[in-house]
Amino acid sequence: MTNQSEQWTSKIGFILAAAGSAIGLGAVWKLPYVAGTNGGAAFFLIFILLTLTLGVSLLLAEFILGRSTGKDAIQAYKTAAPGTPWYFVGLLGIAASFLLLSFYSVVGGWIVIYFVRSITGQLSPPDGNFELLFESITANPLEVGLAHLAFMVMAVLVVQTGIQKGIERASKWLMPALFILFIIIVIRSVTLDGAMEGVAFFLQPDFSEVTGETFLFALGQAFFALSLGVSVMVTYSSYVPKRESLTRSAGSIVGLSLFIALLSGLAIFPAVFALGFEPSEGPPLIFIVLPAVFNELAFGTFFFALFAALLLFATLTSAFSLLEILIAPFTKKDPSKRKKVAWTSGLLVYLMGIPSALSFGILSDWLIFGDIFFNQMDYLVSNILLPLGALLISLFVPWKISKSVLRDELLQGSNLGSGFFSTWLFMLRFVTPLAIIIVFLYVLGWLPGIGPTI
Ligand code: PFF
Repeated sequence: MTNQSEQWTSKIGFILAAAGSAIGLGAVWKLPYVAGTNGGAAFFLIFILLTLTLGVSLLLAEFILGRSTGKDAIQAYKTAAPGTPWYFVGLLGIAASFLLLSFYSVVGGWIVIYFVRSITGQLSPPDGNFELLFESITANPLEVGLAHLAFMVMAVLVVQTGIQKGIERASKWLMPALFILFIIIVIRSVTLDGAMEGVAFFLQPDFSEVTGETFLFALGQAFFALSLGVSVMVTYSSYVPKRESLTRSAGSIVGLSLFIALLSGLAIFPAVFALGFEPSEGPPLIFIVLPAVFNELAFGTFFFALFAALLLFATLTSAFSLLEILIAPFTKKDPSKRKKVAWTSGLLVYLMGIPSALSFGILSDWLIFGDIFFNQMDYLVSNILLPLGALLISLFVPWKISKSVLRDELLQGSNLGSGFFSTWLFMLRFVTPLAIIIVFLYVLGWLPGIGPTI
C-alpha cells in the first residue's frame, strides 16, 4: 500500500466513488431550499440547463485532468503546467473543500439527530409543529455539537484507514434503497390533498422573478451537486484505467444526480403546499417537511428512520471525498501520516463548523452582512468559490493540455466522434468561462439590465 489515494479509488470503483461524492445533501437538502427561495420551477429549469451544459463539460474537464496526469488536486496542475502558479487552483479547491465540509458536516449532524430521535421515539413535535421541533433541536448547543462531532468522527474513521471494501458493497445496495424510498415519499407527497400547487411550483416556471442572482444560485447548485470546482473529481479520476470511458461515467453520474434532484423536488414541494409550509424556509426546509410527510405514512417512523440512515450514508460518502482531498497532499509522500493528518483535519473542520452549527441557535442573532454565519459560509463556498474554481479549471484544461491528449482522453472507450469533441472543447474554452464571468458581473451590478443583488 504505497499510495493511499490509489487504494481509495481502486477499491471502491471509480463510478461509485464519484457518484458517492456527487450524490448527497446537494440534491436532497440544498436544492429544495435554494429552489424554494429562488422561484421554484424557473430555478430548477435553469439549474438543469446549467448542469447539462457547463456541468457536464466541467466534469469531463476534471476527469481528463485527473486521468491524463494521474495526480491529485495540486500535483495535477504542477504536472500539466510545470513551473507555473496554476497549482493555486488546487489550493483554492482544498480551501473551498475545508469550508464546505465545515457546514456540510453540521447538516450531517442534523441527520444524525433526526435518525437517533426517530429510533428513540423523540420525533413528535411540540403542538404537532415540525418547525418548532427543528427550532428546539437547533437551539440546544449540546445536542447539535455532539451530533456534528459524531458525524465528523464517522467520516474520519473511514477515511483514516482508506475506504473499506464494505463501503463498495454497501453502496451497491444503499444507493438504490435510497432511490426506492424516495419514490415512496414522492408518491405519498403528490397524493396529499392540495399537492398539485406544489407540483406546479416545482414544474411550471415563472420567469418574472428571475434575476442575475437566480443564475448565480443555479450555477452554484449545479457545481455543488456534481462536486465541481474543488478538484475532487480530478483526484478521483486520477486512478481510472485508461480503457474506461470517461464520457460514459460522466453520463451516469450526471443522470443519477439529476434524477435524485427531480425526486427530491417532487417529494418536498407538493408536501410543502399540502401541509401548509413555506417554500422559502431556507436550510431547515427538508428537516421540517420530511418528518411531516412521513407522519402521514403508515409505519412512518420506521420509514423515516430508514430514510435518515440512507441519507446519512449518502452524506458520508460525499464527506469522505471532501476529507480525502484535504489530506491527500499531506499523505502522498508519507502514507504513514494518514491517521494523524485525517484526525487533525477532521478536528480543524469541526472547529471551523462550530459557528455554523450554532447559527440556528445561540448565534442566530449574530449577523454578518445581514445574514447568519451558516448562510454566509454556504454563499461564499457555493456561489463564489465553486464558480471561481470552475472558471479557472475551464481556462486551465483546454488551454494547458494539448489538443491530442484531450481528444484521446475524451473519446477513449466511447463511440462518440470528433463532432462531440469539438463541441465540448468549444463549450469549455468559450461558453463556460464567459457564462460564469457574465453571471458574476450581473450579480455585482456591473452589467446593465439587472441591478446589484448583493
Ligand atoms: N456533491 C455533494 C452533494 O451534492 O452533496 C457535495 C460536494 C461534495 C461538493 C464534494 C463538492 C465536493 F467536492
